[in-house]
Formats: sequence, structure tokens, C-alpha cells
Amino acid sequence: TKGAAMVTAVASRVQAQRKQIDEVLALFQLTREQLVDVQGKMRVELEYGLKRKTHPLATVKMLPTYVCGMPDGTEKGKFLALDLGGTNFRVLLVKIRSGRRSVRMYNKIFAIPLEIMQGTGEELFDHIVQCIADFLDYMGLKGVQLPLGFTFSFPCRQTSIDKGTLIEWTKGFKATDCEGEDVVDMLREAIKRRNEFELDIVAIVNDTVGTLMTCGHEDPNCEIGLIAGTGSNMCYMEEMRNIELVEGDEGKMCINTEWGGFGDNGCLDDFRTQYDAEVDEGSLNPGKQRYEKMTSGMYLGEIVRQILIDLTKQGLLFRGQISERLRTRGIFETKFLSQIESDRLALLQVRRILQQLGLDSTCEDSIVVKEVCGAVSRRAAQLCGAGLAAIVEKRREDQGLEHLKITVGVDGTLYKLHPHFSRILQETVKELAPRCDVAFLLSEDGSGKGAALITAVAKRLQHAWKE
Ligand code: GLC
Repeated sequence: TKGAAMVTAVASRVQAQRKQIDEVLALFQLTREQLVDVQGKMRVELEYGLKRKTHPLATVKMLPTYVCGMPDGTEKGKFLALDLGGTNFRVLLVKIRSGRRSVRMYNKIFAIPLEIMQGTGEELFDHIVQCIADFLDYMGLKGVQLPLGFTFSFPCRQTSIDKGTLIEWTKGFKATDCEGEDVVDMLREAIKRRNEFELDIVAIVNDTVGTLMTCGHEDPNCEIGLIAGTGSNMCYMEEMRNIELVEGDEGKMCINTEWGGFGDNGCLDDFRTQYDAEVDEGSLNPGKQRYEKMTSGMYLGEIVRQILIDLTKQGLLFRGQISERLRTRGIFETKFLSQIESDRLALLQVRRILQQLGLDSTCEDSIVVKEVCGAVSRRAAQLCGAGLAAIVEKRREDQGLEHLKITVGVDGTLYKLHPHFSRILQETVKELAPRCDVAFLLSEDGSGKGAALITAVAKRLQHAWKE
């Protein structure tokens, strides 16, 4: 009959649409072989970055940090810390009493307006110093000269613990006249310009390194620091004899890998999709940080948005209507992805979240959106896991061990807030590095505490030198 024919027609259209959606989702599914391939490629790039000859062209920069040991629990004192480059800008007062786990912190969060993030370097550092002044006032600390550790979460070339030349901005920053400059000098000059207080800037620290130090303070097995947040990066303790850029063969030094740049030579092109390419082109640093753009909070929502636009264009979503909101960059923050993917959430609530984002969805739409978010964040966790597997295997082989037990200190909103990211990451590492027993330790405010710990160690060394 006519009715039955119509039902069949609708059913087959639904089937065809489902097939189209599945084809898009399939682009984000990585096989075990592909992940092993990513792991192998990461391994190659890590070694390139360490070797003097290949270092200048390496996409994974492998930057020496001049942090050579872990805190030993005897650190103590009062320190200031700055934390720039994560979700928030913060100024902190950190009090460390000797003995493990006895750290107290007071902090204040300050906004950095977009026009300052992307204005001039002077304006940016003047703003930072203004925030420090506010904090000192607020804490009644003006006139007390405390040692300061500066967590600056961008790639810096260091020649000592208190010198760091910004190589290039990443994530959402693009202030002019900073690249190629020593950011510690820029901070000192801004303090001088204000001429209101003095500070003793002792250390500049990447957030991964701060995280490693914080977790190392609790767990001596911790030799890797991982950030899966706005950006994605990893640091680890490397044997000095393997670091060709730094004199000396004894002991270890922490290397800031800046693995976000992995893939910038095209080695990940087999896995990159048109959506990744679109996100890259629309970013502040096209062509750069390709791995970061597939694995971190600042970009995952953008990948999702690009897919949704494409599915809508194909008539598979939102009744084929691309709303103004959907055209807007940055609408999908990590927190929304985390909410949408939460298992406890009924589809109705997913629809409500989409509504908050200004997207009118049907029930079918919200199912598809949830699937898209899942595919994108799953791939991110797996890629990140493959990178981590490369480093733990390297550490195992370098030490000539059959079996390695190691702890990774982790921080970052994606890792902490997303309902599945951390589990998939851990499963991937287990699968790809079966001879390593990898534990994950959540860092509590690694950027702040870690900067203070490093400052404490550096201060102690300064005194030891003078004596
Ligand atoms: C970006 C930065 C890196 C930082 C990471 C996490 O990748 O380049 O220095 O560690 O974000 O914040």
C-alpha cells in the first residue's frame, strides 16, 4: 500500500542519513595500529629534539628547564607565585613548612581581557604588575620582599632557572614584542616602570614542570608532568647524558617537551581531518601546535563545532539551518563538552545545554551532538595516551629495565572535568606500554605550589653557592 511504501521510504532515508553521520564519526576512530604509529612517531620526535644536530628543526622542542632535582621535603618559607597561561591568571602567596604536604596557599584570580592578551607586551606586563600590586595590598604585603616564582605556560628557551626567552605564543595569547624576549626581564622592567615595590624573581617555570614538582613532593616515583587543559604539554626527568644541548653528564634535568607542536612537520597528516584543518586555519597560530589542537580543551569544542556545521550543511542536523550561534567561534567550552558527555545526563538535559548555547535541537539532534562530542574527545584522549606511552617506554628502555614503575603528575581542566578523558587516556597507555606500570597522581594546584617549590630549591642553591 501507499502508507507502507512511505514508511519504507522514510526508513531508508533515515538509514542513509545514519550512514552519512557514521562516515563522519569514523574519521575520528583510530585503530590500534594507528595509535602504535603515533606512539612511534612521537618517540622519533622526542629523540630529534634532544640531539644537537636535529634540535633546531625539531617540532617537539625538548627544552631544558634547569630544574635538576625534585623537592626533598626540607623546603620552607614564604613565596609569591604568578600563574599565567592556563584558564585563569592568578597571583599566589605560598607558605611551605618543611615536611611533606604542608603547604598553605592564598590566591587571587584576575581576568586578563582579550585586548590585553592580544595587545602589546608592555601593556600585558603592566597589567600583570597591576594585579600583583592589588594582591600585595590585599594581603598586606607591600614592602616585604618575597622571592617569586613565575609559572609562565608557554615555550621558553632557558639558559638558567631565572631566564626564559619566549619562543612563540601558543593558545589564546598574541601580545606583540614578546617573542624572542626574556619574559623575566619584561616583568622586571614593568615592576621598575611602576616603581612601587620590589620583587626578587627567582625562577621561571612551565606549568608542566610545576605540576611535576608538586606531585614529586608527594610521590618520589613521579618523573612526568602532564597538562591536559586549555593546552596540552608534558615534561619529564631526562638523563643529563642524553641532553646534548646542556654540558655535563651527571644526574638528570627536567625537559619541557612542548609536545603540542608534534605533527607540525606533517607527520600526523594521515589522521588529521578537514575539521582539524579548519580549526587550525581559524586559530591565532595556523600551522602550529597541531597535536595540541587535536588534544586540548581550547580546541576540542571548535572541532565539534566544525563537524556540526558540516552535518548541518549536509542536512543531517538542526533541520539543515546553520544558526548565527553555530557560526560563532569558541561557543563550545570544555565545560560544555564535559556536561554533554556526562552519562548521568538525560537527553533532555543535553537539549537544554544546547539551548543555552542558542542551538535549537530535536531529540535526534541531541543524540548526534553527543556522539560527535564523544568521538572528538575519545580521539583526543587516545592521541594523548599514545604520546604518554612513547615517553614511559623511552624511560624504561633508557634505564635498561624489563619493567618500569612510574608516576605521572597531572593537571588541567580537560583531565579533571571531563567524564571520560582520563579513563580513556589511562587505558590507552596501558595498552600501548604494557611493560610500564603507570600511576596517575592528580596535582592540586601544581602551577602555584610547584613554582613556589622550585623557587625554594633555587633559593637554597643560591645560598649554598654564596656560602
Ligand atoms: C601550551 C604551551 C605549553 C603549556 C601547555 C599547557 O602547549 O605552549 O608551554 O605547558 O600549553 O598549558
